[in-house]
Amino acid sequence: MAPRKLVAGNWKMNGDLAALDQVDEIAKAAQDAGCDVLICPPALLVHAMKARAGDMLLVGGQDCHTKASGAHTGDIAARQLCDVGATHVIVGHSERRADHSETSEDVAAKAAAAHEAGLTAIICLGETEDQRDAGSTLEVIAAQLAASVPSGATAGNTVVAYEPVWAIGTGRVPDTAQIAEVHDKLRQDLCAQLPDGAEVTLLYGGSVKAGNAAEIFAIPNVDGALVGGASLAAADFVPIIRAMT
Ligand code: G3P
Repeated sequence: MAPRKLVAGNWKMNGDLAALDQVDEIAKAAQDAGCDVLICPPALLVHAMKARAGDMLLVGGQDCHTKASGAHTGDIAARQLCDVGATHVIVGHSERRADHSETSEDVAAKAAAAHEAGLTAIICLGETEDQRDAGSTLEVIAAQLAASVPSGATAGNTVVAYEPVWAIGTGRVPDTAQIAEVHDKLRQDLCAQLPDGAEVTLLYGGSVKAGNAAEIFAIPNVDGALVGGASLAAADFVPIIRAMT
């Protein structure tokens, strides 16, 4: 089976209840889309977004704890995300790896917790600009993938998102050959690591916009996008969804 196509929005620490007014427009576009459409708002908005979107849109979290419950003030368990209607959770975003010193081993534990709760884990990885300049991109990506994907991962419960750190929120995007090279490597490694690695959805993330989405979606082994800034307004996000259709 071919990987499922997915266009996902990561609202990061943006949005409020008023921002949910645009969910109807996004949900309508999602209904007409030939792909899954997901939004990961701040955890506080997951429940309200799901209530508003119903079955028209997938809703997810941006992080979860490695444990199922317990004395971890301020943290959120995967099961709690599930309880309020989430189907997915992002783990290992470079902003969490940097801001919270998360290692790939932490990320694997979070992904395993997500799987245990019945969520699909969107495992993020990507090289820094220094690592790309040093020519070590493929090596870095391979090491992150090997350490971040837990045992028990399958194409049904895992999505991998390649997000070069230097392309996030900068307006700079790798050229198509650079994206193709990394996604090809990810596909090869996933096929070696998982029995159904050929079916794992691979997303590209980093300054995806309406103007470059179609070109990025045409790259082999790119099955969709993880969109930050351009997912915050329906006017920007809907054309990206349509570019996949
Ligand atoms: O997770 C999405 C992300 O990091 C990309 O952000 O704003 O460059 O689309 P942006």
